[in-house]
Amino acid sequence: METKIFSQSEYDITEAGKIIENGGLVAFPTETVYGLGANALDEQAVKKIYAVKGRPSDNPLIVHICKKEDIYPLVKEVTDEAEKLIDEFFPGPLTIILPKSDKIGNTVSGGLDTVAVRMPENETARRLIAAAGCPIAAPSANTSGLPSPTKAEYVIVDMNGKIDAIIDGGDCKFGVESTVITLAKDVPEILRPGAITEEMIKKVIGKVNTSKAVLEGMSGGETAASPGMKYKHYSPKAKVVIADCDKKTYEDFVNSRQNAFALCFENDNVNIPKVTFGKENDDLSQAKELFAALRRLDKMGAKKVYARIPHTSGVGTAVYNRLIRAAAFTVIDLKKPFTIGLTGQSGAGKGYASEYLKSLGFNILDTDKYVSMIYQNGGEINEKLARAFSPDIIKNGKIDKKMLGQIVFSDKEKLNTLNSIVHPEVIRLCEKDAKVPSVLDAPQFFEANAQEKCYKTICVCADSETRLKRIMKRDGITKEQAKKRINSQFDEKYYKEHSDFVIINNGDEDIKIQINSVLEEIL
Ligand code: TXA
Ligand code: MG
Repeated sequence: METKIFSQSEYDITEAGKIIENGGLVAFPTETVYGLGANALDEQAVKKIYAVKGRPSDNPLIVHICKKEDIYPLVKEVTDEAEKLIDEFFPGPLTIILPKSDKIGNTVSGGLDTVAVRMPENETARRLIAAAGCPIAAPSANTSGLPSPTKAEYVIVDMNGKIDAIIDGGDCKFGVESTVITLAKDVPEILRPGAITEEMIKKVIGKVNTSKAVLEGMSGGETAASPGMKYKHYSPKAKVVIADCDKKTYEDFVNSRQNAFALCFENDNVNIPKVTFGKENDDLSQAKELFAALRRLDKMGAKKVYARIPHTSGVGTAVYNRLIRAAAFTVIDLKKPFTIGLTGQSGAGKGYASEYLKSLGFNILDTDKYVSMIYQNGGEINEKLARAFSPDIIKNGKIDKKMLGQIVFSDKEKLNTLNSIVHPEVIRLCEKDAKVPSVLDAPQFFEANAQEKCYKTICVCADSETRLKRIMKRDGITKEQAKKRINSQFDEKYYKEHSDFVIINNGDEDIKIQINSVLEEIL
């Protein structure tokens, strides 16, 4: 089929109206995103929309009208709340759901007994509806699952050859789809956030909830109030990951990444390939540019994208709602002081893992080094230790490690006292020096409760015989001494249960492959 490209001229709009009237499909601009329209009262025409988009048949469409009063024939009743919302926000980026009238067929409503109605603010959209002489059912004019089109050129990419016509109306004003609110429940509920925010709606009708699914993924058994929310959405081909952190941390993080793209704000200091989506404190600019940015990333061939997290207030809620779906709900928490916690029992060969991570650009914080530093430098911690154990452990202003070891290693309670004095200071110093992406390399990881400070924890494990041999060789001690050392630590089961990932290192395994696959999964 040849797809005609129409302008916004009187003649073209009249032609487009005729196509809709005769059961055809026309894509048209709205103030949110481009819509793919058909006569809402013509079941056969509406079915074509689902086919062309590849849209699941249980995902209902929004019915677009050009005059406020046109809502009356489509719904059972216009409630007081609906009346207030219509007065305030029609025409505009708000969609209202009400119990449907007999005029609405099952295809438009996806089998539900409600209908979604919206009166667009965009004049071309309203002129088209008027020219067609019928309400227009229209989802966003993208292939199902792809980012919604905010420019005619993106509609052409997805729909050329599949629909009758596309009206080119330039860039969409808001760039994210309308706010969807259902009034078919006891308390009105926002099912999809948009440019009309919860606060704005609250001012008009008082009580309103926002569906939990707006910012969270749907878990397996849940049924969606809005069927559209259960599907993977807005997804570019690239794997998108949201980095939850401040500007500086984001910059440090992405600048350390290779073979990745940044999806960031205009003034971010990023020196890997990047695409921006608006300005940091301007949620409207982010909304306007997000979908185009996602499409640009695909065009640039991005495979891995790290996205800057938007503020989730006001229109930012809508931006985050779209972005987190584009990211298939993958968020990495870089607000924790350390990106990765690395631990393992004595002799497990944690050092190899640490060295490899260092070669990949991770900032390694070796707690052993910090402990030595503390013992060397004297200071308040060492005075505390002297008070707790014996003044004799200080020699020339430094802690005598050997003597301290003799005191604590055979006495569990004393060892705990030592840990409770030294660990917090070690973690504090590491935190001060940490720069993302960082690795907290700590043998006494769990003893120090360090897992709470790390985004993910990896432990390195090896068979006990292997570990014994390594310790004997490394420290020149007997098997008995080595056993004693191992027995003073948590057992392997504990390490495994409390870590996110386990890496095996008996000597034959490839540590790099194992670490690469962990990194692929978490970053
Ligand atoms: O801004 C917009 O709303 C754009 C422009 C073209 O108007 N349209 C749009 O349509 O975004 P679509 O189909 O991509 O998204 C409609 C959303 C879907 O999540 C759908 O499940 C939900 O609205 N929806 C429609 N009718 C519903 C109903 N009766 N009950 C619950 N959810 C409904
Ligand atoms: Mg859509």
